[in-house]
Amino acid sequence: MADDRTQQLKIAIAVLSLCLVVLVGLIGLIAFRPGASPVETPAVSIGGPFELTAQDGRRMSERDIAGKPFAVFFGFTHCPDVCPTTLWEMSEALKALGTDGEDVRMLFIAVDSERDTPEVLSPYLQSFDPRIVGLSGTPEEIEQVVKAYRVFWEKVPGTDGDYTINHTASVFLMDAGGRFAGTISYGEPSNVRLEKLRQLIGKG
Ligand code: NI
Repeated sequence: MADDRTQQLKIAIAVLSLCLVVLVGLIGLIAFRPGASPVETPAVSIGGPFELTAQDGRRMSERDIAGKPFAVFFGFTHCPDVCPTTLWEMSEALKALGTDGEDVRMLFIAVDSERDTPEVLSPYLQSFDPRIVGLSGTPEEIEQVVKAYRVFWEKVPGTDGDYTINHTASVFLMDAGGRFAGTISYGEPSNVRLEKLRQLIGKG
């Protein structure tokens, strides 16, 4: 008799346990059903504080351009094509903005800390619009801003100990609040480029 009761108790516990497992499973299914409660993807933040050296030797940070929209481009002066093309096309676009764009700045951040000193950047940038500011820094300073803008770059060894650099070719557009507002892709038509800049400065 005692054995029967023990047996019944064991069965009851087993049934209850099974019910509990099923219940937990159902709750899990409802709670984590795809689309039922979408997991919020944190907005990818692009940009942030920086402190670098301008081509005139002065230190420059995001505070110096606060309250004004700006563009950011990462590159290096030895770049044979993407950098000079981008800087030339952006110069043309800045010119086309006229006085509407006189407060706009474009930062050309040189990732080649080894070769791109202010003394190299200064003459290099004379071929382009004066609103383009060349910025260089120590590898650590560059790394910080590269991370902030989620930029990719890598040194590619060439012949005779020389090297070139592969790098992100997009221009980042930042609004007056320092927030990421979009990009201009390499090779984007000049009218699209200009329209994006007009929108950035609120004249679109
Ligand atoms: Ni380049």
